[in-house]
Amino acid sequence: MAEKTTCITTEILKRHPELAPKWMRMKRATESDYPELVQFFMDNGLEYGDEDKYDTDTDEVASYKVMYGDELAGAVCLAKRDGEFIIDGIAVKEEYRKKKLGKLLLDKAISTAKELGATSIYLNARAPKFYEAYGFKAVKANEAPFFYECLDCDQYNVTCHPEIMMYEIG
Ligand SMILES: CC(C)(COP(=O)(O)OP(=O)(O)OC[C@H]1O[C@@H](n2cnc3c(N)ncnc32)[C@H](O)[C@@H]1OP(=O)(O)O)[C@@H](O)C(=O)NCCC(=O)NCCS
Repeated sequence: MAEKTTCITTEILKRHPELAPKWMRMKRATESDYPELVQFFMDNGLEYGDEDKYDTDTDEVASYKVMYGDELAGAVCLAKRDGEFIIDGIAVKEEYRKKKLGKLLLDKAISTAKELGATSIYLNARAPKFYEAYGFKAVKANEAPFFYECLDCDQYNVTCHPEIMMYEIG
């Protein structure tokens, strides 16, 4: 059976006609896409790979990717960590940023979490302003214990100033 995709071209093209004529589609990622997504997140400045060191239990729930023609333009990964829904990664390729793709990806991850019964969603923000604009609120580090690996990282508050944030799903 063909996989369901959502065509988001119309929504993006209204604001960015320069992106015509290729199709832009959002698609649920499959397991075989994961190596490409992890590489994509790392290429866009996200860190992956140290979780095994910590006693956290992170399960991938659903990932979505935005394709611009054949090119991966953005992706988001929704996961569950110690029973809480989290955004485990979100990135948009540099040349497609500031066109609301990040917001569309976040909308998709949050609506998926809501369908699965989530009332809140957490993340460790490298771009807090992006999430503040969306309605996320900062949470004190000691009130979000499953992000403690940051405290152990030598770049914490040196080159990396992450902020733990939470969104209440209405
Ligand atoms: C963060 C990121 C995903 C945002 O994607 P994007 O497609 O550029 O975001 P959008 O166009 O949907 O922006 C939505 C709003 O957030 C704002 N915004 C986006 N990125 C921002 C940033 N880094 N700082 C401040 N505001 C930002 C936009 O100006 C826009 O505001 P507006 O609605 O008032 O115009 C993208 O910049 C990215 O991939 N960054 C590198 C990876 C990263 O840091 N990921 C987040 C890890 S926690």
